[in-house]
Amino acid sequence: MTSGSKKNKKLLVANWKMNPGSLNRAEKIFHQAAEKTKGLKNTKVVICPPFLYLSRLSRNPAEHISLGAQNCFWENKGAYTGEISPAMLEKTGSSHVILGHSERRNLLSETDEMIFKKFKAALGAGLTPILCIGETEKQYKEQRTKEVLEAQLKFVLKDSGQKTRFVLAYEPRWAIGTGVTPAPDQAGETAEMIIKKVGRKVPILYGGSVDSKNVSSFIRTGFNGVLVGGGSLDAEEFAKIGEIVDNS
Ligand code: PGA
Repeated sequence: MTSGSKKNKKLLVANWKMNPGSLNRAEKIFHQAAEKTKGLKNTKVVICPPFLYLSRLSRNPAEHISLGAQNCFWENKGAYTGEISPAMLEKTGSSHVILGHSERRNLLSETDEMIFKKFKAALGAGLTPILCIGETEKQYKEQRTKEVLEAQLKFVLKDSGQKTRFVLAYEPRWAIGTGVTPAPDQAGETAEMIIKKVGRKVPILYGGSVDSKNVSSFIRTGFNGVLVGGGSLDAEEFAKIGEIVDNS
């Protein structure tokens, strides 16, 4: 069962974003997703709900599912109104945290410096950061993807101590929530470029309009898994994506 060994497992990550609108619904989706993905052999499942639902979901967990947050602050306590610390997340049963998602970079002006502070704090609290990087449509059209991703990775790569304890998610901004995805070959080339920078020990996910129809192409072109937004709120579709990842 080497392909099922922990070391080689692929990753299926759900980013629920600011959904669903009630705890009841969140519990329903979580337990349906748990039921439908329990047969996966080669794939680790991580579900990242809104903060508010994390502690409740972690009280009734599923053995094969890890929980993650969608953001954290860079300090562990203090006068930081509205923020949630990595230590708090760790205590509520989270093992992962998504950082640097383009919606936060875009809408909340998160910078690479801020994201790196969060990254270090998350590692310090024992969480695994899922660091999101990706270019805008304009940058893509100007063929600046490589340069943009390198800039977004700059702080992480400088800090040699952290090099392997995280997950990277390549999410072209123009593919998020749009139904448009890069051609698999192009995405594969980007994966190769990222691997050259971070090495093969860091799992690299593809994210942006992943569904059960396109997912296999991303796994085939070298990604170690996927970060699923919209498709993760439908347990049936999420499990279908998981099955394809598992068998690809
Ligand atoms: P999407 O979102 O799958 O809805 O495009 C992905 C993400 O933002 O992580």
